[in-house]
Amino acid sequence: MTVPKRAKMVEVGPRDGLQNEAKPVPAEIKIRLIDLLADAGLKTIEAGAFVSPKWVPQMADTATVLAGLAPRPGVSFPVLVPNMTGFEAAAAAGVREIAVFGAASESFSRRNINCSIEESFQRFAPVMAAARAEGMRVRGYVSCVLGCPYEGEIAPSAVAAVSRRLLEMGAYEISLGDTIGIGTPAKAQAMLKAVAEGVPVARMAVHFHDTYGQALANILASLELGIAAIDSSVAGLGGCPYAKGASGNVASEDVLYLLDGLGVSTGVDLAKLAAAGRFISGHLGRESGSKVARALAGKFAA
Ligand code: HMG
Ligand code: MG
Repeated sequence: MTVPKRAKMVEVGPRDGLQNEAKPVPAEIKIRLIDLLADAGLKTIEAGAFVSPKWVPQMADTATVLAGLAPRPGVSFPVLVPNMTGFEAAAAAGVREIAVFGAASESFSRRNINCSIEESFQRFAPVMAAARAEGMRVRGYVSCVLGCPYEGEIAPSAVAAVSRRLLEMGAYEISLGDTIGIGTPAKAQAMLKAVAEGVPVARMAVHFHDTYGQALANILASLELGIAAIDSSVAGLGGCPYAKGASGNVASEDVLYLLDGLGVSTGVDLAKLAAAGRFISGHLGRESGSKVARALAGKFAA
C-alpha cells in the first residue's frame, strides 16, 4: 500500500461540528475546545463561520470566539465566508484564512446558500479578489461530491467542474465534501480521479461525513491516490443543517489512529486530541462519536 509520508489534518469540529448542535454552545467553551485542539498539535482549526445568524444561529458568536483565541504562530483559524458581508466581518476580526463553500448539486446550493451554483461563483469572485488584496488565504469547499440529499447521484464531472473553477479563482486547496456520508471507496476514487484532471492532487483535500460508516475506508482510498489533506471533527461532532440526515464528520481521533498506524506523520498527539474530545463530549453530555476515543477511555475493556 502506498500512502503519503505526511498528512495535514484540518480540524473542523468547532465549525462543522458545533454548527449542528441544537443547544447553543457558549463562546468560552468553543475557545477552550480550540485551545485544546491547538495544544494537541493541530495546525488548521476551523473556528467558525460568518454566515447569516438567521440561517445558522450556532455560528453567530464567531467574532467573540476569534477575539478569545490567543495568537499561535503557525496555527491557522479559518472561518467560512459565503459573501462580502461575511468577508467584511472576517476582515474586521483579523482573520488570515477564509473558506468559501460551493456545491456540485444545484438543489443543495439553493438550500444551503440560497443561490444557484453560477450565482455562487458571482458571490465568491469579489470575496476572492478582496482576500487576495488583503493577503488572506482562501480554501474552497465543494459539497455533495458523492451524492446529494435532494438530487441523489452527482456526476464526478460536475464535481470536477466546480473544483477546477474554485482553483482557477484562487483557492489554494479544494476540500471535497461527502456531505451526507454516502460514498464508498471505489466511487470516491472515481470522483477524485475526475477532479485530479483539473486540480493537482497536492491541492485536494477530502471531507468525509460518516453517516454510513464509510469515512475511514474512503480516507484510505484517498490516501492511496496521494491525497494528504484530511478534514475531520474531534469526537465526530457535526453534520450540516441543510443536509437532513447528515451525521458527524469522521472523528479526528479515528483518522489520527489510522494515520499513525500507517506511519503517516501529522504532528498531532492522539492522547491530547482525545482529551479535547473528552472535554467537548463532557460539555455536550454525551458519549464521544469516536470509537478510538471510547477505546482509549477503556469503554471497550473486558
Ligand atoms: P440570503 O438570505 O440569500 O442573503 O442568504 P441576503 O444577502 O439576501 O441577506 C439576507 C439577510 O442575511 C440580510 O439581513 C443580510 O444582512 C444577512 P436582514 O436584512 O434580513 O436582517 N446576511 C448576513 N449576515 C451575517 N453574515 C453574512 C450575511 N450575509 C447576509 N455573511 C446566505 C444567503 C449565504 C447569507 C445564507 O444562505 C447563509 O448564511 N447560509 C449559510 C449556510 C451555512 O452556513 N451552512 C453550513 C455550512 S456549509 C457545510 O456545512 C458543508 C461543508 O461542511 C462541506 C460539506 O460537508 O459538504 C462546508
Ligand atoms: Mg461538512
